[in-house]
Amino acid sequence: MNKSVKLMLSAALCLTVVTAVPALAGDAAAPAGAAPYKVADGNKVDAQTLSGWKTWRALACERCHGAAQEGMVGPSLVNSLKVLTKDQFKETVLHGRIDKGMPNFDGSKMVVENIDNLYAYLKGRSDGAIQPGRLQEIGK
Ligand code: HEC
Repeated sequence: MNKSVKLMLSAALCLTVVTAVPALAGDAAAPAGAAPYKVADGNKVDAQTLSGWKTWRALACERCHGAAQEGMVGPSLVNSLKVLTKDQFKETVLHGRIDKGMPNFDGSKMVVENIDNLYAYLKGRSDGAIQPGRLQEIGK
């Protein structure tokens, strides 16, 4: 098996695990079943979502979208993620909307590798399931 096939398989496996595990008990805000993240107590998340948050921090998206994603120069992503599809999200973040002030992040290895995780994190913020601010991994 070549390396990219293995990578694809492990990525598919991760996705299956994340989406297959039902929302944790006491997690009323997360929509049942379909959520791309797991969250407990508002600030504990699965490893993938944690990587998404770390990517958000590392690339300083908050410079334009605000520390709580509620918008500054750039729009509120809490609102945007209620409307954007995952594909539209990926397209915007990777290719940017240069003329409108949104940079392209396809030159960042961290963003490219974590685009699904970034989506999961921001979706959790948009759903009101994940609190703004610091996160830690569930069970750590
Ligand atoms: C230099 C400022 C700036 C930075 C840094 C920035 N953005 Fe943006 N972003 C914008 C602006 C401005 C827009 C609105 C573009 C438009 O009008 O269509 C935007 C739009 C978006 C949208 C689409 C919103 C919608 O409703 O269509 C997403 C998603 C997004 N940004 C995510 C991110 C992420 C994730 C990061 C970090 C990896 C990031 N942005 C970093 C300025 C920025």
